[in-house]
Amino acid sequence: MGYLPLRISTVPPDRQLTFDLYINFKEQYLKLADSGSAIDHEKLEKLKSQNVARFYIVEEDSMAYQKFVDDAVNDTIDDPNIPLDEKVELVEGVAETAAEEMQKNPENQTNFIRSQKAANNLVHIIQENPAALKKIYGKKAAKSEEIIQHSLNVCALATKLATLLQHSKQDVDDLGTAALIHDVGLNKLAKKDHGLFKKLKNEFNSDEKRAYNLHANDSADMLAEKPYVNHNVCELIRNHEENLKGTGPNKKKKLTQLEEILALVNAYDKRLLNTADATPSEVLKRMQIDEMGSYSLNLMNKFMEVLKSEGLVE
Ligand SMILES: [Fe+2]
Ligand SMILES: [Fe+2]
Repeated sequence: MGYLPLRISTVPPDRQLTFDLYINFKEQYLKLADSGSAIDHEKLEKLKSQNVARFYIVEEDSMAYQKFVDDAVNDTIDDPNIPLDEKVELVEGVAETAAEEMQKNPENQTNFIRSQKAANNLVHIIQENPAALKKIYGKKAAKSEEIIQHSLNVCALATKLATLLQHSKQDVDDLGTAALIHDVGLNKLAKKDHGLFKKLKNEFNSDEKRAYNLHANDSADMLAEKPYVNHNVCELIRNHEENLKGTGPNKKKKLTQLEEILALVNAYDKRLLNTADATPSEVLKRMQIDEMGSYSLNLMNKFMEVLKSEGLVE
């Protein structure tokens, strides 16, 4: 019998399970809860404090699990009686799962549709709850999860900025989807180049720059021909490493405001991740100096305003 891992954050407390749930303990699968039962808050908290990050289900239950998660999100996201932390945890867990599956298999239609839905839900929770962004943005992630955390960060912050700049719902949703999956092409880099994600652009030598630059078009090309992928999403992904100086992979000097938002937030979040010893305001200052002219002054000012008003920099 095959087992599938799932994030424990995608199983909310007190919700009736539609599948048997297992944990992996000393390389054995032990049944934690039966289908039809639920896990209470206290038990979930205890498992988290024991650093249990994954539950398991048997493969045959994967459809039942997917429906369980979809229903849970629908029931939870707008329920005023459910604490924000609980909502955020669920929506985040679902978005992390979607980003992870997309990384593994970016050409799969179901993975794309789930990512789109997960991004829309992230946007929704941030727009409806002023305190949500700070809970989502900038969580410490394990090494293996850094690109996923980065994807969620960029999705959350970029869509907040676009909402404040009064972009349409469709535009903000497209931006959110693009942001959640923009780096899927990093997986195509040769093994020796995987570390480039953790390096600042101005520290690249010319070979590293050439290798790293491939991922933006690789990400977009994997999606470009798919009838279910909207063209705007694809172009946003293609141009996420550009800047107004024209030194990005596609050497574009003109960007739409949505493209510029994605590029700016991507660059900021990557810096934050790669300079762990600096505070966010130091990172922001450094970025203003190093990347003068990369983004319009207007957008940069609005961005700093958002970071301050959201409590993301001092
Ligand atoms: Fe990138
Ligand atoms: Fe990125």
